[in-house]
Amino acid sequence: MKTQVCIIGGGPSGLLLSQLLHLKGIDTVLLERQSREYVLSRIRAGVLEHGFAKLMREAQCGERMDREGEIHEGIFIAHDKGMDRIDLHKYSGGSSVIVYGQTELTRDLYDARAKMKGNVIHNVEDVKPCDLTSAAPYVTYRDGDKVVRIDCDYIVGADGFHGVSRKAIPKDVLREYEKVYPFGWLGVLSQTKPVSPELIYSKNERGFALCSLRSQVLSRYYIQVPLEDSVEDWSDDAFWAELKKRLPGDVAARLVTGPSIEKSIAPLRSFVAEPMSYGRLFLAGDSAHIVPPTGARGLNSAASDIYYLYHAMLDHYQKGDDAGLKGYSQKALARVWKAQRFSWWMTTMLHRFPANIPYDDKLQNTELQYLLSSDVAKQSMAENYVGLPF
Ligand code: APR
Ligand code: PHB
Repeated sequence: MKTQVCIIGGGPSGLLLSQLLHLKGIDTVLLERQSREYVLSRIRAGVLEHGFAKLMREAQCGERMDREGEIHEGIFIAHDKGMDRIDLHKYSGGSSVIVYGQTELTRDLYDARAKMKGNVIHNVEDVKPCDLTSAAPYVTYRDGDKVVRIDCDYIVGADGFHGVSRKAIPKDVLREYEKVYPFGWLGVLSQTKPVSPELIYSKNERGFALCSLRSQVLSRYYIQVPLEDSVEDWSDDAFWAELKKRLPGDVAARLVTGPSIEKSIAPLRSFVAEPMSYGRLFLAGDSAHIVPPTGARGLNSAASDIYYLYHAMLDHYQKGDDAGLKGYSQKALARVWKAQRFSWWMTTMLHRFPANIPYDDKLQNTELQYLLSSDVAKQSMAENYVGLPF
């Protein structure tokens, strides 16, 4: 089999790039180790920067997002003195975010690929990117007992944190930066009316909490929990009782509870792999970087990778200009690290750190009070939350 770009990974990163390139007549083959149903069963975040939304529209996949997604122009921050609204629209100079579940977005991308008869191959095994530094790289995978070879011009590793692509970069080339946080997030999805029209990030002495939503009938809530906790430790009743304790009284009083339709604990980590390219292999999305979800940057930092890679591939195939491909890693990492910074800042400001010395706790509270009292600080937060320019 031969193609121009072989994409490993059928999550949002791989699918979006495949769709964008297809629309420009660039041939791709996408290899996904799971079934479509399995990929769509994953519950992920749901806040889209305006830049991501624009890319989805360019990929002709934005129609349902624009119809069913909610435009949010602000967020709330709850704290021991009450609750403040950060006017994202005002402080970002007129921008906003779209709240639309990643699962639905991934479904839209899969549907678009199927409609355009995109070459998406599921349930592949033992994917191996090969000859990365040659002018003729290739990828092999197993289909049962059969080994299939795909010759290509370029390989894109969009296979997430646990994928094979990053590991294909030689150890003496790859540099990894990681920070693990001493807590996790216990998340619950419930078919209940959201407690607030906009997201509530709550800094509380008992621990962080977040009130989010997928629609007006589907709510998403999180509470910070110790790393040692397991989902079995948390009944629905225990979760709702703890969430209420971490919210302002009037918010807790109007919280609509109900049975969890999904409940899981995720650890929080910051991670970046450099470089994001090696020979003709390019990493995009979670294969190269992970953020704690506090800043809602996960999918959004994948978007800028896809944007840069898409335009670099266009320049190569349409103009014979390889500057974008050569400069991809440096350009992508510059924005990746800004998303890392923002995610670290939100996480550090809003969570309870049991090992903090009292001075650190005072500094943490001061960081929040500075944000809430400074228009310049709100502008900085807003421009990051709605999305820095690509
Ligand atoms: N071969 C083929 N596919 C693979 C392999 C492999 N060896 N390893 C992993 N995959 C697939 C996974 O099954 C998954 O569907 O690659 C896909 C990677 O998708 P994601 O992990 O969703 O990563 P990405 O597309 O970059 O999206 C980033 O997803 O994890 C969230 O918070 C993250 O919102 C962010 C977004
Ligand atoms: C979510 O809705 O899952 C969500 C929203 C905002 C975040 C993290 C998660 O910062």
